[in-house]
Amino acid sequence: MNNAIDTLQTLTVDLGDRSYPIYIGSGLLDQPQLLTPHIPGRQVLVVSNETVAPLYLERILKSLAGFQVATVILPDGEQYKTLATVDTIYTALLEHRFDRSCTLVALGGGVVGDITGFAAATYQRGVHFIQIPTTLLAQVDSSVGGKTGVNHPLGKNMIGAFHQPRCVLADTETLSTLDDRQLSAGVAEVIKYGLIRDAEFFGWLEQHIPELLARDPQQLTYAIERSCRNKAEVVVADERESGQRALLNLGHTFGHAIEAAMGYGAWLHGEAVGTGMLMAADLSHRLGWIGDIDLTRIRTITGLARLPVHTPPELDANEFLKWMAVDKKVQAGQLRLVLLTDIGGSIISDNYDAEKLRKTLDTFHREAQAR
Ligand code: NAD
Ligand code: GLY
Repeated sequence: MNNAIDTLQTLTVDLGDRSYPIYIGSGLLDQPQLLTPHIPGRQVLVVSNETVAPLYLERILKSLAGFQVATVILPDGEQYKTLATVDTIYTALLEHRFDRSCTLVALGGGVVGDITGFAAATYQRGVHFIQIPTTLLAQVDSSVGGKTGVNHPLGKNMIGAFHQPRCVLADTETLSTLDDRQLSAGVAEVIKYGLIRDAEFFGWLEQHIPELLARDPQQLTYAIERSCRNKAEVVVADERESGQRALLNLGHTFGHAIEAAMGYGAWLHGEAVGTGMLMAADLSHRLGWIGDIDLTRIRTITGLARLPVHTPPELDANEFLKWMAVDKKVQAGQLRLVLLTDIGGSIISDNYDAEKLRKTLDTFHREAQAR
């Protein structure tokens, strides 16, 4: 047995006849025996982008020897997560006469994964789909659980579909080429699992974030595996987000407002989520739901992960509220927020004092302007 297989971790997202494995380990791109059993037909479209393809596409194509393979290379960036980009994938599928038995493989970060998954969900009313995530954020979050979609100029991730992949192949070696800012953005989503439902993991992260940022392979693999385990449990309990899956959106309502208001791509998604979680914690503290020590721990870990602790100075409370109103958690015009009751405890609620929300937004604005 080689090293890659020795270090292989396999989790299952248990969704009955749509169950699928998450493979986590080093060197998995060169293990066709993990990938090819999940491809039912002969036609495969690999979708990647102009940054990731030069690094890793060759290795995937080698693993797919014997299949009828086509590729689409997308421009890189959140600003291309649009219906227009999805259309270029449909065009390639039609030009190659791909039929309903085809499989789309997403090779890249969350942007490539979300776009490709949406194309797979909608091409001929749904074809097979595989995720090969290459960012930390995608390996711990976006590749698992079947949320796919694109942005609209008026709101983030507003067009989409649930469509589960047939497998997720997370090769931790790909993280060696990721820049430090992207790595920190991924750590934000890792911290999220600790905050919403896994206090013990949060405690572990307080000790080990420096090792994650230093790309210690063992600690990274542990953090990815534990994050995916948390995500898989939530997805199995509430696949289509009628309840607890919304907790995975801690910090996202604030974060999506930052991303959309600043123009997609200016702030990384994980950065916006990191700051957004701090804002959610601040509001939870004002409501008396978490104490001083918990708020300090959350502030400290955000800084330790090298995530921004200040909002963009140009966003005042009114601007925030305008963007926050465009959120999938809005029901009957009422903004619901994921808030903390503890480290490791969270709820979704519209039962909060709106004045306290304004106070949080005003305080962040004032502090950002004072810098
Ligand atoms: P991303 O896909 O933009 O990737 C970040 C950058 O890293 C890009 O420039 C990319 O080209 C580059 N890159 C990717 N892999 C690399 C590698 N191995 N080496 C070097 N560079 C590499 O961003 P992301 O943080 O991966 O994903 C963010 C997106 O994911 C957002 O659109 C967000 O909405 C979405 N998301 C979706 C879900 C979901 O459940 N579907 C969950 C969380 C986030
Ligand atoms: N990232 C949020 C979810 O998958 O539900």
